Amino acid sequence: MNHRQPKRIWNFSAGPATMPTEVLDQLAEDLIDVDSTGIGILEHSHRQPTFDRVLGDAVESCRALGEIPKEYEILFVPGGATVQFSLIALNLIPDNATADYPDTEVWSAKAIVEARDAVPSATIAVPFEGKRYRYDHVPVEGEMTPTPGATYLHYCSNNTVHGTRFHTPPKAAPGVPLVCDASSEIFGRPMDWNKHALVYASAQKNFGVAGMSLVIAHRDLIRKPVRRLPSMFSYAVHLAAESRINTPPTFAIHAAGLMFRWMIAQGGVREIERRNDAKAALIYKEIDGSGGFYRGLSRMECRSPINVSFRLNTEELDQMFTKEATEAEFDGLAGHRDAGGIRASMYNAMSISASQALAQFMHDFAQRHG
Ligand SMILES: Cc1ncc(COP(=O)(O)O)c(C=O)c1O
Repeated sequence: MNHRQPKRIWNFSAGPATMPTEVLDQLAEDLIDVDSTGIGILEHSHRQPTFDRVLGDAVESCRALGEIPKEYEILFVPGGATVQFSLIALNLIPDNATADYPDTEVWSAKAIVEARDAVPSATIAVPFEGKRYRYDHVPVEGEMTPTPGATYLHYCSNNTVHGTRFHTPPKAAPGVPLVCDASSEIFGRPMDWNKHALVYASAQKNFGVAGMSLVIAHRDLIRKPVRRLPSMFSYAVHLAAESRINTPPTFAIHAAGLMFRWMIAQGGVREIERRNDAKAALIYKEIDGSGGFYRGLSRMECRSPINVSFRLNTEELDQMFTKEATEAEFDGLAGHRDAGGIRASMYNAMSISASQALAQFMHDFAQRHG
């Protein structure tokens, strides 16, 4: 096998996303030999003490990082967040009941479709239709009419494609719990657990490897599904089996554990939030100071610090931007196919120097072509 000197460029991809080199180095070591067992992480049985340690550490560090109260269970579930779109509805919405799903973007729209297919007898109400506004904002006070007595209100806290974010959780009808897709911002700011019954995220943006989700849910909510379900679809069975109904995604769980510990070592969620805000400020400064050369896709008051979506004045300029950015060794900057333009995704592991480099590139590009 050829061993070459690794090369790293600036990766602004929306996910799978950049990971810290310290974590990648540890994973590389653990591929050959984890915990001095002489067996690599990919080769260990999921029923042996080494993996017990790996799983235990991942759960414990997740709880410490997210300051997750003890009444909340932590599950690692195979499949991305898209799988959760169905599982949440199947486990939680009784037949003929209603759940609220404000539509703030592509991902919440997909969650609506999946929930309707999962429980056809239920009403999936859409109390806010962001599509009407080209998804340029999330509902402001009074703009949403939640359903009294709904089973829950599902929302996407940070909208990965259009780059909007709920700065505070939406208001559901009184007594209605919140269910949150935090895929693009989990551990990027503190979570108000009192308001949330279930929070989920796929791993590949903020804590590692694609194809696995983290589900954090109040025990009382998931202890018993509202209908009989196949075991892999049931949160109660995942809980009883401690995330090991079958052979779990062992490598992804190990990577998640290392990512949680890395975030704790950086100073935890508040420090990650401070860095994310600083990274975003650099990019928004270039947008706002460009005299209209760059235009943000979202309204100022709900801009995401994680996914910064913008466009230039013509599609030709958008294309020239991504072409020149690629030549300058920036990757992943083309906008999502549903939004077009440019998108810079700066998840928890993205360094401030990467954002500084991009801000400088944007500045120089505007000088050259503005
Ligand atoms: C907010 C949000 N939800 C859900 C998903 C879907 O995740 P997955 O591809 O892991 O199913 C994504 C992926 O980009 C996302 O950004």
